[in-house]
Amino acid sequence: MKIGVLKETQKGERRVAISPNIAKQLIEKGFEVYVETEAGNSSSFKDSDYEKVGVKVERRGVVFKEANILIKINPFDEEDLKLVDEGHILMSQLFHKSHPELLKAIAERKATAFSMDAMPRISRAQDMDVLSSQSNLAGYKAVILGAYEMTKIFPLMMTAAGTITPSRVLIYGVGVAGLQAIATAKRLGAVVEATDIRLETKEQTESLGAKFITVENDSDNVSEGGYAKAASEEYARRQREAVNKSLFQADLVITTAMVPGRKSPVLITEEQVKQMKNGAVIVDLAAAQGGNCELSQMNKTLIKHGVKIIGTTIAPESVSTNASDLYAKNMYNFIIHLTKDNEFVWDMEDEITEETLIVKDGTIRKNGKTE
Ligand code: NAI
Repeated sequence: MKIGVLKETQKGERRVAISPNIAKQLIEKGFEVYVETEAGNSSSFKDSDYEKVGVKVERRGVVFKEANILIKINPFDEEDLKLVDEGHILMSQLFHKSHPELLKAIAERKATAFSMDAMPRISRAQDMDVLSSQSNLAGYKAVILGAYEMTKIFPLMMTAAGTITPSRVLIYGVGVAGLQAIATAKRLGAVVEATDIRLETKEQTESLGAKFITVENDSDNVSEGGYAKAASEEYARRQREAVNKSLFQADLVITTAMVPGRKSPVLITEEQVKQMKNGAVIVDLAAAQGGNCELSQMNKTLIKHGVKIIGTTIAPESVSTNASDLYAKNMYNFIIHLTKDNEFVWDMEDEITEETLIVKDGTIRKNGKTE
């Protein structure tokens, strides 16, 4: 099997789907690897780094012509699809629920496509889960961004000129990004508190040395397939009551709460922002889906009622070397899982294949349908 790694074309993207280290491991497993010229440049990987481990670095057209498996991070676009042929196996994040037209175009080319963002949330798929590996980095970077925008430092500092009290950080949503944000803020010396609709995250929060703010919930059934379900109005009211004291004392607030396929829940209203400390910072990682703060705007930093509100997705491409390495390792584990002696096994009973295989030989499968 020949694997072709394409240069990302989406604006602002700096990652590459396979790093030289992982290319070497794939070659050791018997795959041939082609990488498009300069694909790794923005992730600090030079063409010569790939060539040194046995990769063939080629122009885009050659990669499409030679490879059976084509790998990207972002969804294949119109230009890519012109070069996709019958028999090609595409692997990338497809976000197919919001891009039904992409599936149609892939099917018209009679190709096959796996979607990395459709990975089931089961233990054995953890090492293939690109959403997790990238969110983890986003959680780290959110704290660094917040720290940069704050006018205070994080740790307690005793100096001859006086004692500086530690900053207070509040995190909404203790998923992958939230957990890493807690760990990073703790490492920097802040006093950290966090809350989540899923009560099982209390123990995880406390194990990192942060305080969990419990919000009583009538319904036990708050998660589905590892993801949170939408919260009720009553829950939102209780949450505000439970969290307000910490919110109004916080120097940095990081919000990460998302509900798949829906607009993000509003967790911080304008009324609450008015009561926050002057100079506090909110980093809203859910801004692309509407934001967890009522005032957030995507890709904008606003100052409202004395609070700096940063609406961002914290693209993992801002740490593209690590993000590419982790994405590549996820891809490696996925490819090894799907193949035996370099051939696809097509085990349709396997949950990982079942969930991620969206188009097979030009037919859109059930999990690719949007209804
Ligand atoms: P996410 O990005 O969908 O959401 C972030 C967090 O926000 C979640 O913890 C969610 O419960 C919380 N949230 C949603 N609505 C909220 C509200 N109204 N108020 C407060 N919090 C709210 O979640 P993410 O990071 O993708 O992970 C969710 C869970 O899935 C985690 O426990 C993670 O460990 C698990 N997971 C398991 C995997 C596997 O087993 N293969 C792979 C990836 C994640």
